[in-house]
Amino acid sequence: MSAVAQSVAETRGVGAPARDAAGFGVYVHWPFCLSKCPYCDFNSHVRTRIEEGRWSAALTAELEHYAAETGARVVTSLFFGGGTPSLMAPESVAAIIARVKALWPTAADLEITLEANPTSVEAGRFAGYAAAGVNRLSLGVQALDDTALAFLGRRHSVAEALAAVELAVLHFPRTSFDLIYARPGQTLASWRKELAAALAHARGHLSLYQLTIEPATAFAEAYARGDIAMPEEENAAALYEATQEMLEAAGLPAYEISNHAAPGEESRHNLTYWRYGDYVGVGPGAHGRLTIAGEKWATRQHRAPEAWLERVEQDGHATRQQLALSPEECREEMLMMGLRLAEGVSRERFLKTCGMALETALERERLAQLTGGGFLLLDARGLRATAAGRQRLNAVLGMLLG
Ligand SMILES: C[S@@+](CC[C@H](N)C(=O)[O-])C[C@H]1O[C@@H](n2cnc3c(N)ncnc32)[C@H](O)[C@@H]1O
Ligand code: SF4
Repeated sequence: MSAVAQSVAETRGVGAPARDAAGFGVYVHWPFCLSKCPYCDFNSHVRTRIEEGRWSAALTAELEHYAAETGARVVTSLFFGGGTPSLMAPESVAAIIARVKALWPTAADLEITLEANPTSVEAGRFAGYAAAGVNRLSLGVQALDDTALAFLGRRHSVAEALAAVELAVLHFPRTSFDLIYARPGQTLASWRKELAAALAHARGHLSLYQLTIEPATAFAEAYARGDIAMPEEENAAALYEATQEMLEAAGLPAYEISNHAAPGEESRHNLTYWRYGDYVGVGPGAHGRLTIAGEKWATRQHRAPEAWLERVEQDGHATRQQLALSPEECREEMLMMGLRLAEGVSRERFLKTCGMALETALERERLAQLTGGGFLLLDARGLRATAAGRQRLNAVLGMLLG
């Protein structure tokens, strides 16, 4: 028995299954895409042939492996991410949902999200996903400008994306879509126009990411050659501020740096990450965080798709790393995640999770500088970043954590 399984066996009590206010999520990674977008450093791969039956069985096997480790905890969210999970057959999605429901008790309002690309072929599968039990669709629209879509290497047009958004609304009670902004040459006026169009089609949730140049991507090479000029810091800040202002006025304030929702429409799955709750991660490269016998464990699966598949077929899982986090690592992770949220880090949850009071965990001088500078706020509820602090969170965290 692994160390984790042993601690579970020792601590598994009788009575109702454990529930945590931050929720307990299950993440399933589908690592395939039709093509690789030049900005993307997610674990996504292009393959001409995928033996879907083998993949579906292997993902199910990893779920079984982790269910034995976690014991009976109430699952509050299930997330199919990628890669492009909308390339999966609805039957595979249905089989995985059924397995999750058989392995764990699930909340009555279980959130089941699937990430989809808005091409017409994928939209053709929406009805099948809804019938399988998916109740939230997150679409990778990325831009509402055909030239920008071509620059981002996307396979859909604006018209196709908007048709997919409208179709999604008919099939799923909750929908969201992603846009990438602060693109080379993007003006404030054109972004405001694009955002207004997005708001006309958005329901309760939008994810708005500033373009980042990730190492080892095609954009990183183009940037190094000088072929791409990223917006100056000042311009990027103006785009960010306009985004906050327009979304707030539309009733979709930021609940996290890049995520906006009407109250109650937040992604429960992502809230579990940011509140530093527990989640199981299966599929190539997936990460998990599990609290077992009072200790927080980090898990990570093999990243390369073929190696992952072979491992699972041989051993029942492809866990590459499973290690207990020190109180120091736990403190850092919880602050890094929680300060992304508008609600910040709860005093009570921090004590429960990290075993120390917030004040004890923070260096007094640094905290005083950051609160005095108007970047952080510490009160009876806990610690949170102000709007100015969230805008430059990396610098704030660098200073806070040293
Ligand atoms: C896993 S990806 C989305 C999945 C889906 N395959 C798609 O592309 O629509 C999650 C989101 O991260 C955002 N993203 C990925 N790389 C990014 C980058 N370098 N800069 C900004 N946003 C990025 C995109 O908006 C993307 O939709
Ligand atoms: S952005 Fe989405 S579709 Fe593009 S390569 Fe990354 S995961 Fe695949």
